[in-house]
Amino acid sequence: MSQNNAEKKRYYEPAPQDIDVENFKKVVTSRRSVRKFTDKAIPAEVLDECLDLALLAPNSSNLQPWTFYVVQSAAKKKQLVKACLNQLAAKTASELIVCVARTDRLDEMAKMNITEFPFPEAPATVQKYYRFIPYNYKTGYFNALGNFKKVAFKVARQFDKQLPVTAFNPADAKLWASKTTALACENLVLALCAYGFDSCMMEGFDEPLVCKILNLNNQQYPVMVIAAGERAEDGVFFPQYRFDRNLFIQKV
Ligand SMILES: Cc1cc2nc3c(=O)[nH]c(=O)nc-3n(C[C@H](O)[C@H](O)[C@H](O)COP(=O)(O)O)c2cc1C
Repeated sequence: MSQNNAEKKRYYEPAPQDIDVENFKKVVTSRRSVRKFTDKAIPAEVLDECLDLALLAPNSSNLQPWTFYVVQSAAKKKQLVKACLNQLAAKTASELIVCVARTDRLDEMAKMNITEFPFPEAPATVQKYYRFIPYNYKTGYFNALGNFKKVAFKVARQFDKQLPVTAFNPADAKLWASKTTALACENLVLALCAYGFDSCMMEGFDEPLVCKILNLNNQQYPVMVIAAGERAEDGVFFPQYRFDRNLFIQKV
């Protein structure tokens, strides 16, 4: 079959039929931010399974711009608790996971999308896409590429051209990677919940200190630290509440 024909052939994966909605709801509704944990350890295989489920989160262009640092060295953990402003959740957690968004591996991840594409050979359109896509999120030295894109997009829009979200500067690139990383964080906490463990997402941390502890470069951004463990009896401080859904949902 020529590559063109191979590309046209549609891959079919049946939609799941047997998902237990009630159990899914139970996981979502029972997840709480837990600020105090017991001494019980999370079994290594459970933690690994939860991390693997985190990695299945949807992510922009499948570029997987994240790293999850499971901080287990006693010395580093002590430093990290301090960096997390000595929050009780951090102090009592059996695991502390620093979720890092990164924009420094765009080329590497794009190449891997070609070499590890799950067909014998990545279709030509896929190869073309991954040769181009890193530039959408790169900004170049002294933001030269970002500035060029800004002008080019402005001109193109004059001609009624529709254009995707792109990075015009490093802040946009950070937002791009953080958006996707946060989705994996949610997968992680829901997975922990499904296994009977709890968590507290924390952005109450000293960012430069966390970067220093983990030796992060300036294109690696700690999005949040996740404290995880078994919920202490008094680990949830108040009932969950949200505001009126009409404030947040608009059907237009
Ligand atoms: C990005 C993010 C950062 C958060 N940072 C902290 C934090 O530093 N400390 C803390 O105790 N809770 C933190 N939380 C938890 C929120 O306060 C909590 O999700 C919110 O009050 C709703 O409560 P619930 O998670 O129990 O539904 C954070 C949550 C998110 C999503």
